[in-house]
Amino acid sequence: MIKRIGILTSGGDAPGMNTAFWAVTKKAFREGIEVYGIFEGYKGMYENNIRKITGKDIERCYERGGTKLWSARFPEFQQEEYRQVAIENLRKNEIDAVVVIGGDGSFMGAMRLTEMGFPAIGIPGTIDNDIKGTEQTVGFATALNTVVEMIEKLKDTADSHKRAMIVEIMGRKCGDLPLHAAISSGAELLWIPEHKWTIDQLVNKATQLQDKREIIVCVAECYHDEIPELMRKLDEATVFEPKHQILGHIQRGGRPTVGDRILATRLGNRAVELLIEGKKGRMVGVQNNKVVDHDIIESITEFEPNFNEELYNTYKGIMR
Ligand code: F6P
Repeated sequence: MIKRIGILTSGGDAPGMNTAFWAVTKKAFREGIEVYGIFEGYKGMYENNIRKITGKDIERCYERGGTKLWSARFPEFQQEEYRQVAIENLRKNEIDAVVVIGGDGSFMGAMRLTEMGFPAIGIPGTIDNDIKGTEQTVGFATALNTVVEMIEKLKDTADSHKRAMIVEIMGRKCGDLPLHAAISSGAELLWIPEHKWTIDQLVNKATQLQDKREIIVCVAECYHDEIPELMRKLDEATVFEPKHQILGHIQRGGRPTVGDRILATRLGNRAVELLIEGKKGRMVGVQNNKVVDHDIIESITEFEPNFNEELYNTYKGIMR
């Protein structure tokens, strides 16, 4: 029987992580389970930066950006000797199972813990929306709103100067955030790995849009190094003055949208239910508007990627 759970956030923070923390804690308290916060993710697990969570710790937590549990990237956790120390710390604190809120790297850690006999459940929290087995990750919707708000501001100034704004959007190798942003902001051009256009194709399209005052090009951050070449060619071939805009970490900040709050709450609640049911090595997600759970190994290795082809075709149908 689970009496005490540990909870951590790991990797890049995402709006709504605090909501998930709040939901897990509320649900656990209702079930008579104690909650221990593991601060700074796996680093804190290794360093025993662990303490009991009280109701006070989660007050208004559901509406706050960032993560009150703090986060860190801790590649050392890939090594078994670090995980062994971490597990000893969990046992010293009499923790029976952990809930890990994070992206695929964090899920890998959760999987390894489970393999070493320590039960873990993953909640997908990342703005990248690149976790298989869930249609949406906690933080994605908020980041999308932020990106679109920034693009609208950029359009104002681009229009004044007849410029092409090359907007570099986070998401690592996943084009979901740029695609959704392009659709939501009516961006003229989109450059993502799932359907990569050549620079010449992009420039050719831009030449057909020169009667416009401004154009927006949504670019996945993995093309960062190729952007100077795109700028050079746009400058040569069109009347637009190209400007490179890296939106950066602003995309990760801010209060979670209501959609992210609801998603995080549903997933947090289910994560605790799974632990009570004696499940381990699972991830929770949402598919067809239902909360689901999958083997965490499959979520890292086996499912089809998340990318929404139908949405891409919609964008293509309208914009290209
Ligand atoms: O995975 C989330 C993410 O924000 C990515 O979109 C981005 O590439 C990366 O993290 C940035 O990481 P850091 O905060 O370590 O610079």
